[in-house]
Amino acid sequence: NRTIYTAGRPPWYNLQGQLKEPFVIGLCGGSASGKTTVANKIIEQLGVPWVSMLSLDSFYKVLTPEQHKAALRNEYNFDHPDSFDADLAASVLKKLKEGKSVQVPIYDFKTHGRQEQMTNIYGANVIIFEGIMAFAYKDLRDLMDMKVFVDADPDVRLARRLKRDISERERDLVGVLQLYNTFVKPAFDQYIAPTVVYADIVVPRGGENNVAIDLIVRHVRTQLEQRGFNFRAQLRSFHQGQPLP
Ligand code: CTP
Repeated sequence: NRTIYTAGRPPWYNLQGQLKEPFVIGLCGGSASGKTTVANKIIEQLGVPWVSMLSLDSFYKVLTPEQHKAALRNEYNFDHPDSFDADLAASVLKKLKEGKSVQVPIYDFKTHGRQEQMTNIYGANVIIFEGIMAFAYKDLRDLMDMKVFVDADPDVRLARRLKRDISERERDLVGVLQLYNTFVKPAFDQYIAPTVVYADIVVPRGGENNVAIDLIVRHVRTQLEQRGFNFRAQLRSFHQGQPLP
């Protein structure tokens, strides 16, 4: 599942090594701005065992039959704060923050609905929560220890979105442009761009910005150390006596 990524939990990993309260990074940005790329680069460079990623997309509301028909005609607005079950997202993130494992719906962009099965996400040292409206709800914002806004030019985002929706989400060119002009672009101006005021860091050029990603990783490492996370001990157990990177 591309929206949920749980990394680095080796089978021998010692439960006692987990932080009592994980560090939560919120990642917000327009559609196809590169949130997933930034998240994956943070996970890779952090090198911390046990990082979980949770996507707001998993909490798209279940559509009524009428709404589903509208979605198939590209007439349903998936880019509105009301289209997400933000309360469920906040309660799941809260449980993860308490170190509990949670069941999360798996969203299918091809059918505009949840798959039958859920996925399990375990408590972690670091949790990344990403989504177009990640900063739109106070309850969710309050659970984040660090907020990062991923920025990319609108033409870059549209080009990426066209490519992705046609190749991965079974959409056609006309339909993607119809959705983009009717809902996606206005939503960015009305609901997403204004939430940049909540960001601690804005990352221009999304996933290509290695300097910004490096700064974020350094900050998170410092915060983890302040919470008692011992990098060398953890890495030693993670690499089972092999030389540390
Ligand atoms: N969406 C859709 N069909 C659905 C549900 C959502 O096309 N059934 C679209 C919405 O229009 C919304 C987008 O999915 O704009 C949200 O996903 P997006 O942020 O583009 O994807 P990510 O991979 O999370 O982000 P990024 O590309 O930045 O990594």
